[in-house]
Amino acid sequence: MQHIADTLAQQGFVVIDNFFGDWKILKQEAEELAQNNAFRPALIGQGDAQQHNITQRGDNIFWLENDKFSPTQKAFFDKIDTLQSFLNQSFFWGTNDIEMHFAIYHQNMFYQKHLDNFKNKNTRRLSFILYLNENWLPEHGGELRIFSNKNENDYTNIQPTGGRLACFVSAEIWHEVLPTSVPRYSLTGWLRRN
Ligand code: OGA
Ligand code: MN
Repeated sequence: MQHIADTLAQQGFVVIDNFFGDWKILKQEAEELAQNNAFRPALIGQGDAQQHNITQRGDNIFWLENDKFSPTQKAFFDKIDTLQSFLNQSFFWGTNDIEMHFAIYHQNMFYQKHLDNFKNKNTRRLSFILYLNENWLPEHGGELRIFSNKNENDYTNIQPTGGRLACFVSAEIWHEVLPTSVPRYSLTGWLRRN
């Protein structure tokens, strides 16, 4: 885990392949929830100003609740909780909350360049995304594009390959999801300090 902290400190983001072996079970759970119409269009903004704007953000999401975790969701949560303890020791973030949702981007959906933190409500410290897609190919698009925090013209594209975890510092790292040509599944979350 030292590698995760070092890379985060250096470039503000880190990608870890094969972070969670049981990701296919999470994918099945997301698919079942989708079949039961449990997903809702994701909103932008906060409080009363929340709105659905597909030209900015086209994913559908399902928030996970701690007291309703499946065994596999709990196992993933515990892994993130361990990471949280480690990063709190490294960066003194003092985060004490983990929030997570499943996300599906259907064909042609995307999420425009943004920061994950609301300017006036700076509670999110780390964003993390576990990808749930088998056999992702370059022609599927749907990459996470992470912009450099040193040079705004510089970016890294990350394919949403199953089992891979992408993490970045929520308040610093601009990022976007490029249009996908096939359904794109993920489990996205944040370490927060309330
Ligand atoms: C988000 C987000 C990135 C991704 O949900 O805020 O930026 O790769 N997701 O899914
Ligand atoms: Mn984001």
